[in-house]
Amino acid sequence: MRSEYVLEMLKIDKEFPGVKALQQVTFQLRKGEIHGLVGENGAGKSTLMKILAGIYSPDRGEIRFEGQVQNRLTPRLVAQKGIHFIHQERHVVPYLTVAETLFLGLSRPSPPSNSSIGKH
Ligand SMILES: Nc1ncnc2c1ncn2[C@@H]1O[C@H](COP(=O)(O)OP(=O)(O)OP(=O)(O)O)[C@@H](O)[C@H]1O
Ligand SMILES: [Mg+2]
Repeated sequence: MRSEYVLEMLKIDKEFPGVKALQQVTFQLRKGEIHGLVGENGAGKSTLMKILAGIYSPDRGEIRFEGQVQNRLTPRLVAQKGIHFIHQERHVVPYLTVAETLFLGLSRPSPPSNSSIGKH
């Protein structure tokens, strides 16, 4: 049976040396929902998103896409699932507006493998 959630992060733990960044964090998202993740500096927001992005592995917990458990997330797999990240560094693309920056990562066609660019 299909899950009511498109994305689930269940009881996620992540520890760095000397810091418990995430303890038993659960985040569930239904299609069409918009969430804000709010917390003080160092609360673990970026760590949770980096786990979802496949940058860090969780120490414990489970991640599911449409009910299917994901054993190992990679940035490529996550992008194929349509999940894109705009990280909080402000100077990545200084010439784009805020609105343009929000759409970074979307609709970026890659050239065909037999691209003729540079052959003329
Ligand atoms: N790569 C890392 N190595 C060691 N400690 C880390 C690492 N990344 C994050 N931490 C620590 O984990 C905790 C959570 O950090 P995180 O960056 O996820 O918080 P945040 O909620 O995004 O904070 P901010 O609002 O400042 O962006 C902090 O104590 C931070 O110092
Ligand atoms: Mg952060």
